[in-house]
Amino acid sequence: MLPKAKYRKDYKQPDFTISDIFLEFFLEAKQTKVIAKTLVHKLNPEATTLRLDGHSFQFVSIKLNDVAFTQYQQDNESLTLELTELNMDKFELEIVTLLSPANNTSLQGLYQSGEALCTQCEAEGFRQITYMLDRPDVLARYTTRIIADKNRYPFLLSNGNRIRQGELDNGYHWVEWQDPFPKPSYLFALVAGDFDVLRDTFITKSGREVALELYVDKGNLNRADWAMASLKKSMKWDEERFDLEYDLDIYMIVAVDFFNMGAMENKGLNIFNSKFVLANPQTATDNDYLDIERVIAHEYFHNWTGNRVTCRDWFQLSLKEGLTVFRDQEFSSDTGSRTVNRINNVKLLRTVQFAEDASPMAHAIRPEKVIEMNNFYTVTVYEKGAEVIRMIHSLLGEEKFQAGMKLYIAENDGTAATCEDFVSAMERASGIDLTQFRRWYSQSGTPELTITDEYDTNTLTYRLKVAQITPPTQDQMDKVNLHIPLRVALYDVDGAKQELQLNGERFASDVLNVTQYEQTFEFSPIYKRPVPALLCEFSAPVKLDFPYNNEQLITLMKFAENGFVRWDSVQMLLANELRQNLQYHQQQQELQLSSAFLAALQNLLENYQQDIELTTLILTLPKETEFAELFKTIDPVGIRVVRNFMQKTIANHLKDHFLRLYNHTRTENYQLDRESIALRSFNNMCLSYLAFTDLGNILVAKHYNHANNMTDTLAALSLAAQAQLACRDGLLADFEQKWQDDGLVMDKWFAIQATRPDENVLGLVNQLMEHPSFNFNNPNRLRALVGSFCGQNLPAFHMIDGSGYRFLVDILIRLNSSNPQIAARLIEPLIRFARYDSQRQTLMKRGLERLRDVENLSRDLFEKIEKALQ
Ligand code: TRP
Ligand code: ZN
Repeated sequence: MLPKAKYRKDYKQPDFTISDIFLEFFLEAKQTKVIAKTLVHKLNPEATTLRLDGHSFQFVSIKLNDVAFTQYQQDNESLTLELTELNMDKFELEIVTLLSPANNTSLQGLYQSGEALCTQCEAEGFRQITYMLDRPDVLARYTTRIIADKNRYPFLLSNGNRIRQGELDNGYHWVEWQDPFPKPSYLFALVAGDFDVLRDTFITKSGREVALELYVDKGNLNRADWAMASLKKSMKWDEERFDLEYDLDIYMIVAVDFFNMGAMENKGLNIFNSKFVLANPQTATDNDYLDIERVIAHEYFHNWTGNRVTCRDWFQLSLKEGLTVFRDQEFSSDTGSRTVNRINNVKLLRTVQFAEDASPMAHAIRPEKVIEMNNFYTVTVYEKGAEVIRMIHSLLGEEKFQAGMKLYIAENDGTAATCEDFVSAMERASGIDLTQFRRWYSQSGTPELTITDEYDTNTLTYRLKVAQITPPTQDQMDKVNLHIPLRVALYDVDGAKQELQLNGERFASDVLNVTQYEQTFEFSPIYKRPVPALLCEFSAPVKLDFPYNNEQLITLMKFAENGFVRWDSVQMLLANELRQNLQYHQQQQELQLSSAFLAALQNLLENYQQDIELTTLILTLPKETEFAELFKTIDPVGIRVVRNFMQKTIANHLKDHFLRLYNHTRTENYQLDRESIALRSFNNMCLSYLAFTDLGNILVAKHYNHANNMTDTLAALSLAAQAQLACRDGLLADFEQKWQDDGLVMDKWFAIQATRPDENVLGLVNQLMEHPSFNFNNPNRLRALVGSFCGQNLPAFHMIDGSGYRFLVDILIRLNSSNPQIAARLIEPLIRFARYDSQRQTLMKRGLERLRDVENLSRDLFEKIEKALQ
């Protein structure tokens, strides 16, 4: 039987709900018994059948009001109770199931991670524990009793407050937890194991003391401080900026090594991929530190946007995810550099999200049709979802936006809400009409703004003609016009900013409301022909097409007040150089960079002290995958050749500058404040060019040998591999020898190996799958080795003999049965065949067909292959 899709339009309130659930876990890694007692209420008086979700366990028994119940039908994914005879609108069910956490490689439901046992229930993992109304609009109060061997599992954790505990015979003990806040099943969590615990407290703004507990594997306490500090910082920030206070007396975070995603916001008991918890200067890079802070904040912020107000159905996922990403972005921007954060978020959107919208998986931030929910935890739902919230913020301003938040929470606290509830609250609190704006929730695809300008010297009038079009996407042929906030600024050629005015009257805001297919905006008087800065700070998630010449872009680069605009103007210059040179390459002509472009870079470098963070970002050459997104059809080899050329040409042209500044910005002590991070990344950026000069080998080897922190170590190691320096093999062996017992650190090594520019890197990757530090069942290892190879090493994965595709398909066949959620993530590069030449397309499709014919194809893979081959 083929998996069936669900549609957003088919949402129906449930016929039954569950108000209370009492769970008893008799924990054993090989076999765990679960007794689930639920209080069921009939909501629809006409209803006669109750269908409960459940699979992947052994079903033992069911009782209704304490009597064995036999009127049911069972299939692969559910248990349907026949209740025709029953004339009660309230009854109790008791269901007994047997689970095997040690054999659960899907990492959903209850599973074993290392020596610990833990759960992952979002989106639909609870149904792997017991039969349940496993949908987010069924909110119940949970009481959980855990019984286990005290030696093996001294810590027994679940949501809410610890209310009782005791000892049993034979070295067993038990703990009972109660969560006072009704919640959907996806927020349930349980953890059992032996850990080191870092304890702290937080006093909320109303003066309540909250116990904070961070659980890490034994021996890892020296990597836990940063995560704890991040948690406290997040709690404080949410009180200050959003006036939101934590609501329980205890907040626990557990770090586990086997985890499908980043982290999970289970009420009062977050479970984290250890990658987003553990850090010390020897093992973590500056970016790791920032990622940890961001993810800790994200999960914490879910307590209000996700848990207190949850989602009515999974089509509304962006209600909690888009909003919570917006909140974590604002947190990082308020407590760090707003410009750096904006640039990094925009890079992600333009490359990964735009690519998703151009793929067979294109979907709106609120999808219409889903086969496997796990496939919709995407950059579109998360990051584009956050952009949609950000546009509302731009249209309303901070004050009205916060008024909207207050109203949204007041109206929906303790309930399962919809995206419409959110937009409606924003609209009513602000008085601003969001009717047309709502289309962002239902329309997929990347809108294109084509803008031209004209200047009339007689009337001193400047006009911007704006046209919008959203090209069709695979899920949706017909598109409508959107409400697009277009932030603009006008500069004259000398760099002076000009006032936005019409007939002498100042514009109320620098955000133009683009609402029609074609619109003209007029400005007067404007005394000189201006250079327009368009889509400033990426005011909407759209593509911009404006016929800038290089001179205008250099003007913006030099004079724009806004750091983002300056960065963005260089991105456009880079794009022009890349396109030009790719043409030269394809026509077998000599490559060359324009002298104006090189002079502009030199100017930037000489003035780096004006803004060291921004200079670093501007001078960091985009990755191959970022460059690839500039093209409809991607030439993986051409992009590598041209990018290499750019790297070497810039390096040699500015070698003396890079060397002087590199030597000038070396730091002795490792510190984690913003200035030190900025200095380190500037220093490593200089080295990234020097690596491609004749000084490369000496400088990189020295950098590695003198490094006292992972940021510098990794910078050197990765450059040795990228520039294929003589020191490479020695450094790689040294690193391996030192870190072979530490999976998280080895992930960095695996990723460097997988993205090497060498000839036979696939052979190497195949060997590394047998490396003692590799583990096929650990998603972090898979992402580091296989994910990096297929997703980041374009020429190697897209080898014209099809070897890269065959490699991936073989892996996906194994993963289809062991961990389908990860399989469906790793398949992405393969379903995007439409972006390649016909020879590669044929080979990629052949791979997909081989996969489609696999027995017991998972819903996760089925959905993506179906869409790709349709
Ligand atoms: N809600 C989680 C977050 O955004 C995402 C998540 C964690 C998840 N684990 C998952 C989603 C497993 C699906 C499956 O922070
Ligand atoms: Zn989230």
